Amino acid sequence: PRTIYLTRHGESDMNVEGRIGGDSDLSYRGKLYATALANYIHQQDIPGLRVWTSWLKRTIQTVATIPAPQERWKALNEIDAGICEEMSYEEIAEKYPEDFTARDQSKFTYRYPRGESYEDLVARLEPVIMELERQGNVLVVSHQAVIRCLLAYFLDKSAVLKQTRCSCSYCCEHSTTLCCKDFMRNELPYLYVPLHTIIKLTPVAYGCKMEHIKLPI
Ligand code: G3H
Repeated sequence: PRTIYLTRHGESDMNVEGRIGGDSDLSYRGKLYATALANYIHQQDIPGLRVWTSWLKRTIQTVATIPAPQERWKALNEIDAGICEEMSYEEIAEKYPEDFTARDQSKFTYRYPRGESYEDLVARLEPVIMELERQGNVLVVSHQAVIRCLLAYFLDKSAVLKQTRCSCSYCCEHSTTLCCKDFMRNELPYLYVPLHTIIKLTPVAYGCKMEHIKLPI
């Protein structure tokens, strides 16, 4: 039985400033997480472990000292916040109040102008999920919105296994590996994915067991 380890990058300079998106470096605490993560992975001695990151510096810096084969996936990049990239939520609320409200009302389907929605992310992640399904032990180091989508897929798997495929109209109309509509709209964009925490997914009879491992830094 294989294990998937999901984690966000260590805290970045833009996390410290409360800004979204961008491509900033790790903060001092983020670098401490990179060291703690490398130590954890070393202690676990995971057979055949592979490490996947996005193309963004903060994920690559987070695994810089992990001695395992690494792959970079552009599809693992954070949700593209379009015209709101590098802004704080306060600035977005002030500059684009209608967008801010619209996103709050429909977080899954809201698409940032010139950017993406969670729904877009789900589609972009399909090839990643397909390949993950074929792999052994993998550590995926990515971003909050992306990890929410991956987690939704693996947590929802019990439903998928039991009923093969949801037959709601959303799932019938969209060729996506994720289902179903209510879970995606109501839960996916709000799943709890804290910084400096490894989410360990182990297959069990129907679906995945999930453990949160917070590393002390
Ligand atoms: O944009 C960056 C965040 O990781 C996504 O968070 O969808 O809750 O705004 P949010």
